[in-house]
Amino acid sequence: MTEAKKLYVKTYGCQMNVYDSERMAETLGVQGYIQVDTAEAADMILLNTCHIREKAAEKLYSDLGRLKPLHDEKPDLKIGVAGCVAQAEGGEIMRRMPIVDLVVGPQTYHRLPAMMEALDRGETALDTEFPEEDKFAHLPKGRGTHKGPTAFLTVQEGCDKFCSFCVVPYTRGAEVSRPADRLLREARDLVERGVREITLLGQNVNAYHGAGSDGAEWGLARLVRDLARIDGLDRIRYTTSHPNDMEDDLIAAHGDCAKLMPYLHLPVQSGSDRILKAMNRKHTADSYLRVIERLRAARPDLVLSGDFIVGFPGESESDFQATLDLVRSVGYGSAYTFKYSPRPGTPAAERAQVDAAEADDRLQRLQALITEQQRATQAAMVGRTVQVLFEKPGRMTGQVTGKSDYLHAVHVDGPETLIGSVAPVEIVATNTNSLAGRLVARG
Ligand code: 5AD
Ligand code: SF4
Repeated sequence: MTEAKKLYVKTYGCQMNVYDSERMAETLGVQGYIQVDTAEAADMILLNTCHIREKAAEKLYSDLGRLKPLHDEKPDLKIGVAGCVAQAEGGEIMRRMPIVDLVVGPQTYHRLPAMMEALDRGETALDTEFPEEDKFAHLPKGRGTHKGPTAFLTVQEGCDKFCSFCVVPYTRGAEVSRPADRLLREARDLVERGVREITLLGQNVNAYHGAGSDGAEWGLARLVRDLARIDGLDRIRYTTSHPNDMEDDLIAAHGDCAKLMPYLHLPVQSGSDRILKAMNRKHTADSYLRVIERLRAARPDLVLSGDFIVGFPGESESDFQATLDLVRSVGYGSAYTFKYSPRPGTPAAERAQVDAAEADDRLQRLQALITEQQRATQAAMVGRTVQVLFEKPGRMTGQVTGKSDYLHAVHVDGPETLIGSVAPVEIVATNTNSLAGRLVARG
């Protein structure tokens, strides 16, 4: 018997890349590859990249530079670049870094088997098309390589919104929603493999409009409700959403669908209407706040998270103050804050940039406010009993850790047999990024 070929996958960027990496590993699994944990042990290295900000994209080239000595030592080592940098830069990657044998975009990785055959013939392979065929229909049916009680499931890809700072509409293409019956099948398969929580993914997940099992078009709320009927699936989450696609039935589902978890990531980017307009967000600060009000009316304990960009071209101190005001009026459980990064090919990249030191200062001030809110949200959990889905052993022996309904990391003293199950936990203390709890005996 020949020894199995070894694959090392490194994932950069968002959760959809995590999902894509898993699916690529499955596809290559059919070709006889097994996954290993280090680049040194691999016959094939696949870097699944992110292009959202300049720093993320640069990471690829510095990592490729570091792989050069390993490649010199092992000339048969194959190196592939996948994801959004692959899509944006294509063949340029191979010209700049000749150690790269394969470049594959996010919409063509179902073609990896044929591309690997080209590599076996000593050729290079490049595919960054936006193909007609549905990549998901050509991927292995089951989620055979999935491990652990939580999983991602891509239900929608691409974006038609064209925010003026964002590369996603160019790297991931137009919005496409997967048919509901395929998603239900994939979800059932995951549950049979021990998955208890599924996070539905899409660049604009709440713009999901897929063919339903009944022939009608389904929105995200209908999909969530059907997934909730799967026995053994305890929790459903979805990310990332746009405020304009937060339709009535989805808001209602937050109130009446018990499996839909009380945590929502709803990016707003800025609290200034002038900047929101320049960002082409097509909503105002006020319309965003009204959506939040309706969500909280449906689910009063909903924990919110968001994304913010500071230093967007033209942002003045008073625009920035409007962002701080919006953050104060929402009260976030957590949020991601970014300094504006000009991306090639996007409209905002052409505009006059905010002074870098000023942008850094705003980033720090915004982060300080968010940290304060995050601490307050965590402190408010102390004394409450929450449901925790245990995922893995804790850092200390005798501990297990998992996530609460509100997506807080929680650790307790308890046996590893808890992993894969949901149990009630009383929160006893809060640390910087996690909560400490005590298992509550079930009465
Ligand atoms: N610069 C900074 N942050 C960006 N994001 C997207 N594009 C840029 C950019 N050019 C942020 C947005 C988005 C998140 C995924 O990344 O906040 O919601
Ligand atoms: Fe990018 Fe805006 Fe689309 Fe989000 S909604 S992926 S920020 S263009």
